[in-house]
Amino acid sequence: LLKIGLTGGIASGKTTVSKLLAEKGVPVIDADVLGWRTYEPGTKTFAEVVAAFGDDLVAQDGTIDRKVLGGRVFGKPDEMKRLTDIVWPGIRELAGQELERLESAGERTALLEAAVLIEADWLDLVDEVWVTVVDPLVARERLMQRNGWSAEEADARINSQLTNQERLAHAGVVIENDGSLAELERAVEEAWAALQARRNGSA
Ligand code: ACO
Repeated sequence: LLKIGLTGGIASGKTTVSKLLAEKGVPVIDADVLGWRTYEPGTKTFAEVVAAFGDDLVAQDGTIDRKVLGGRVFGKPDEMKRLTDIVWPGIRELAGQELERLESAGERTALLEAAVLIEADWLDLVDEVWVTVVDPLVARERLMQRNGWSAEEADARINSQLTNQERLAHAGVVIENDGSLAELERAVEEAWAALQARRNGSA
């Protein structure tokens, strides 16, 4: 099993790249979804998150209201660290289990999409890292359009993340996404074809 870690900044097209690779039959593990699973009601992590951030996180239906939790941690590095110290070990464990399951199932390739793969120091979970890259000014435009944010809000989120340069230091494969969806599709086709060529070469 070749394990690919896919990471990239906000509005860099990570999720679209995941979808395109899923269409090629690659099983995708979404670390955001695993993260939400770690604090479902009844789990130890649920209790830890509520103890750390307060009972008012709990919605009517008994789940943790992620919008409320997000409001407490985004843009507040100390609070975000408090949350990720609680949840990352569990997410990592679930991701490892999923990768093992895919390996046992005889899959040839798996993709782990994780926004903060590098920050969490999870590089050892994967064999190669693919990074989606977008110019910060293009990311700002996309966030203003897609999320309805002001330029200041967009810049604040972009500036709170690693820079493209910092991510590129870990990248085996770089997917540039400053242009159209058609251009992104072409870039993914090329990366995929290059991967097949590398694997056939080394087989
Ligand atoms: N640091 C930076 N960005 C993060 C983090 C984090 N710790 N956690 C999530 N994000 C990103 C998501 O990847 C997503 O990015 P994208 O728009 O580029 O895809 C964006 O923030 C929104 O995240 P959602 O989970 O979709 O937002 P939601 O409002 O449902 O929940 C919350 C927000 C509560 C903060 C939730 O994201 C969370 O519990 N985060 C902590 C767990 C974590 O770090 N998850 C990321 C995957 S694990 C990893 O990559 C190592």
